[in-house]
Amino acid sequence: MSIKIVMVCLGNICRSPLAEGILASKLPENQFVVESAGTGNWHVGCAPDKRSVSIANKYGIDISKQRAAHFTPDLFEKYDYIFVMDRSNFNNVVNLSSNSKHHEKVFYILDSLYPDQKAEVPDPYYDDLTAFDAVFQMLDQSCSILAKKLIAKHSR
Ligand code: 4NP
Repeated sequence: MSIKIVMVCLGNICRSPLAEGILASKLPENQFVVESAGTGNWHVGCAPDKRSVSIANKYGIDISKQRAAHFTPDLFEKYDYIFVMDRSNFNNVVNLSSNSKHHEKVFYILDSLYPDQKAEVPDPYYDDLTAFDAVFQMLDQSCSILAKKLIAKHSR
């Protein structure tokens, strides 16, 4: 059985699609499934923001076929790990959890890079391409560490 991971942001069109593509590129696909969702439902079914697609492309990752999904409470059972981008995502997701087992699946994505700091991936939606590039870099660095940890933990 695959380990199932979901990346969560607000709109599921800027940050979490990048996080999904980046982490998936670092994990063996026969063992891990990486997906993403948004705590808001405005963009459900939409492709990622063109700027996220463009930045991912710049670094050799294709996220253009992803489609936005809404984070709903049933997903606590579907996924083994839930990674959020910022404090507001964290609070939104935890507020949907109904028990400690679910709550304990929720982590800040930058925790691998900055342990215990609850560091946030800034929302680049109202910003320019430079901000999207910065988001890519921080996600890439954290996901490199995270992927190593996940592979070590779930190696068989
Ligand atoms: P994301 O960015 O949470 O990184 O996908 C956003 C995208 C859209 C909106 C907010 C944040 N929005 O309000 O539509």
